Parts: sequence; structure tokens; C-alpha cells
Amino acid sequence: MKSPYRDNYESVAEEGHKKFMAAGCNGCHGGTGGGGMGPPLSNEVWIYGNDGDTLFRLIALGSDGLKEQGYVRKGSENVVGPMPPHGGIVKSNDDMWKIIAWIWSINPPDKKAASAQ
Ligand code: HEC
Repeated sequence: MKSPYRDNYESVAEEGHKKFMAAGCNGCHGGTGGGGMGPPLSNEVWIYGNDGDTLFRLIALGSDGLKEQGYVRKGSENVVGPMPPHGGIVKSNDDMWKIIAWIWSINPPDKKAASAQ
């Protein structure tokens, strides 16, 4: 899967943030993505990766569902427990890509060479 906003994520970031709040992601990740009972989205550590494909699957399927698809944990953060699936809460694929665009806007995907795509 590939984000339609990979090269212009800034342009839909604000809209994505509204959808992030509407989906209740802030309950665990904080309103600015700084973390809470879930890991921060704004720091250097990406548990499974920061490419669009991995993030989409993680958010839609939850962390257990992602692992069932063969994705492996690459990093770890100071959190307990899995992330629940949100595929049924985020209303459309487009909404999902906009949320991911907002995450990229606070934590640019091209910041680290290791995270190609
Ligand atoms: C009930 C709490 C909870 C909610 C609600 C939640 N998450 Fe998570 N999220 C987690 C936990 C816990 C992890 C870490 C999973 C792991 O370590 O396997 C995580 C991991 C993540 C990661 C990876 C972070 C990293 O550093 O690599 C992203 C991105 C993410 N969540 C986005 C979202 C989005 C977007 C939403 C809303 C659609 C959301 N989360 C809703 C608890 C939550």
C-alpha cells in the first residue's frame, strides 16, 4: 500500500489531525502525539517502521494483527500492551492516509536514512 500523500503530506496534515482526534487516538498517544499510555509518535523510535504501508496496517489491524501478517517489531518504547485495531473506527482509506500524513508532519519520514520509502 502506498500513501497518495507521501510527497505532500503537509498539505493534508491539519485535516489528518482532526481525524486523529475524532478517532480517539489522542486518548493513548496524546493530542500532539507526544504519548501517554501509548508510545509517543513524535520521537525517533518507530516500533514497526514509518513507511506508509506499515503504518496503515498497524493502525487498521492493531499491533497484534500487524504481527500476524508477519511484520516484526524493530524498536520498543516504554509502553504496556498492544495497540487495538482501528480499521473500523477510521472511516475510509483516505482518512487513514490523512492521519498518517499528520504523523509524518510531526515526525518526517525522510528524517532517517534507515526508513526508506
Ligand atoms: C488504547 C490505546 C491506543 C489507542 C486508542 C491508539 N493507540 Fe496507537 N498504539 C498504542 C500502543 C500500546 C502502541 C504500541 C504497540 C506495540 O508496542 O506493539 C501503539 C502504537 C502506535 C504507533 C507506532 C508508534 C511508534 O513509535 O512506532 C502508531 C503510529 C500509532 N499507534 C497510531 C495510532 C493512531 C493513528 C490511532 C488512532 C486511529 C491510535 N494509534 C490509537 C495504543 C493505542
